[in-house]
Amino acid sequence: MLNDADHQGPDPDPRSLLILYATETGTAQDAADRIARNCRRIHFQCRVVNMDDYPLEELVSEDLIVFVVSTTGTGIEPRSMTPLWTMLLRSDLPTDLFEDMQFAVFGLGDTSYEKFCWPAKKLSRRLESLGAVEICARGEGDEQHDLGIDGALLPWISKLIDALLTIYPLPPGLEIDRPDVLPPARVSLTVVPASALHEASDPLQLDDGYHTATLTSNFRITAEDWWQDVRHFEFDFEDDIKYRPGDVAVIHPEVSHSDVEKSLVSLGWEAIADEPFQVQQTLGDQTLPDHLPKVTTLRAILIRHINVNDVPRRSFFEFLRHFVTDELEREKLDDFLSDEGADDLYDYCHRVRRTIREVLEEFRSAKIPREYVFDVFPPMRPREFSIASSVKRHPKKIQLCVAIVRYKTRLKIPRKGVATSYLASLRLGDRIRIGLRRGLISLPSEPHIPVICVGPGTGVAPMRAVIEERIELGSTENTLYFGCRSASKDQHYASEWSGYVDGQNLRYRSACSRDGPEGVARVYVQDLILRDSKRVWEILYEREGYLYISGSSNKMPAAIRAAVRSIAQVEGGMSGDDVKEFVENLEREGRLVEECWS
Ligand SMILES: Cc1cc2nc3c(=O)[nH]c(=O)nc-3n(C[C@H](O)[C@H](O)[C@H](O)COP(=O)(O)OP(=O)(O)OC[C@H]3O[C@@H](n4cnc5c(N)ncnc54)[C@H](O)[C@@H]3O)c2cc1C
Ligand SMILES: Cc1cc2nc3c(=O)[nH]c(=O)nc-3n(C[C@H](O)[C@H](O)[C@H](O)COP(=O)(O)O)c2cc1C
Repeated sequence: MLNDADHQGPDPDPRSLLILYATETGTAQDAADRIARNCRRIHFQCRVVNMDDYPLEELVSEDLIVFVVSTTGTGIEPRSMTPLWTMLLRSDLPTDLFEDMQFAVFGLGDTSYEKFCWPAKKLSRRLESLGAVEICARGEGDEQHDLGIDGALLPWISKLIDALLTIYPLPPGLEIDRPDVLPPARVSLTVVPASALHEASDPLQLDDGYHTATLTSNFRITAEDWWQDVRHFEFDFEDDIKYRPGDVAVIHPEVSHSDVEKSLVSLGWEAIADEPFQVQQTLGDQTLPDHLPKVTTLRAILIRHINVNDVPRRSFFEFLRHFVTDELEREKLDDFLSDEGADDLYDYCHRVRRTIREVLEEFRSAKIPREYVFDVFPPMRPREFSIASSVKRHPKKIQLCVAIVRYKTRLKIPRKGVATSYLASLRLGDRIRIGLRRGLISLPSEPHIPVICVGPGTGVAPMRAVIEERIELGSTENTLYFGCRSASKDQHYASEWSGYVDGQNLRYRSACSRDGPEGVARVYVQDLILRDSKRVWEILYEREGYLYISGSSNKMPAAIRAAVRSIAQVEGGMSGDDVKEFVENLEREGRLVEECWS
């Protein structure tokens, strides 16, 4: 940590700050925007940039950087941070590489995971070891905090501001801007003739990371009378696409026209919904949604670029407060935004998963100027789906296995997932753009090296891709642990597995947790792995095989790891430290891979 006396003297007064963020689900992006708004109050000019988009060769010439980094997998960095992290880990970097750099790190994580905020911790340590100076102790936001990430973010921003003001005092004549002033909008919108809309290009169509695909299958694979609708999708591509098992399809959802119509009504935007305008970014320190066309309409923005079905973050209420005209509503918002009201805000939104649209229906006096559309509402995130097929078996196609999200909140209000509802609504012949992204799984170099796939529920998607590909390569050394509730209702792709078993290409183990008699302990995939401990040990230790884990629960991967540790103790006679090292080696060698999601 730098203290004032140690400081060798910064540049005269650059007052410019780079904020680099890495996010999986958008929280770090929102935090980065918020940090920038606060730094603007002390007259810093910020650039907020996604790590993916930042030219790494320029890093060495930066003077002052704030890193905002979330955590995914088992304590790993978001994908957009991997190139930066790989670069920083190079062994040939001089230890004074960043001697002119000052930095601060805010990590986002969740203490229910073993490796809380690890990428942020590792990043600040590595930057220091390369000569950079940390100007403010690292902040670590925890989803388990009563106030969520804000519980640590808000006090950390105050510390950051203090540190910046100590090093870069305000020039004479300037004052700190008040926090309750409405910030300027991040875009200006200029109305243009309808012809401009037709001439404007769609960045998603032009993005060569995406390909046009036609839907050729969309059918349910769970029993009709089962509570959950899990579907198999197939898309045909015009391009000769290439992907590997474990790779991921990136889909930009669209909100249904009826939902958009309701939002337009509650926002009072019906009359201007289809008026075309040109979008010009006016604030470089606030982010915009990806793939935003230069000319668009409010309706198109609500369909594709913002998400009013998200649970609102604090920043939403901070903006909303400026746009309500009713005194009682403003008082309520002031209360939510006060220190004492933070718990009430959490109860109002997060506990009951109230959506932005529902909040707007309660704060009816709000009149949101359309210029503020990207300040008030969060961007629509593209969603990722593990590809469930091998391109070797299905050239120019991908298949997906998707659980359509439907649930009821604590207030018994029905909810639909945005992207899965969109996918479910697609009809055969519909054409959409799909991105392909490298996943975490790498196959063994030889088909005779055994693999164990653990994929309960839709976690079976990447495992199906692995197994298809391995069988195409002539491998018979494949084991699948599949978990579901009922053998007859939600055992996805059961007939395929039994075909492979008959052909001696697969060893299939299924844990159907609700099929056992009442009162008997339920069996899960980790229990089967423990039962097979000798074989699992032989595969992982003696034959240097691979273990892939995929699924949607954060408890399951931890339980599988615990089972592996226990097997190393029982079958390998290893003690505490050796077990730890064994598991770490598996991970380092890419022989233990987790691809999990919330
Ligand atoms: C690398 C990767 C691979 C993936 N692969 C697959 C895959 O193969 N198949 C698949 O189906 N999904 C997969 N996912 C998840 C997928 O990306 C979506 O997040 C998921 O399908 C939900 O998207 P949605 O837009 O429909 O839901 P959203 O609109 O984003 O809503 C989902 C949110 O609703 C809330 N929620 C959901 N159910 C409940 C409940 N019962 N109670 C309370 N709250 C609830 C949760 O907060 C959840 O985060 C993958 C994710 C990643 C990151
Ligand atoms: C699949 C998944 C894995 C996660 N793994 C970890 C972890 O290992 N350690 C941790 O501290 N937080 C973990 N988290 C919590 C996230 O880092 C946290 O929710 C964060 O706010 C997400 O920020 P983002 O939306 O910017 O990605 C995980 C979250 C998910 C969905």
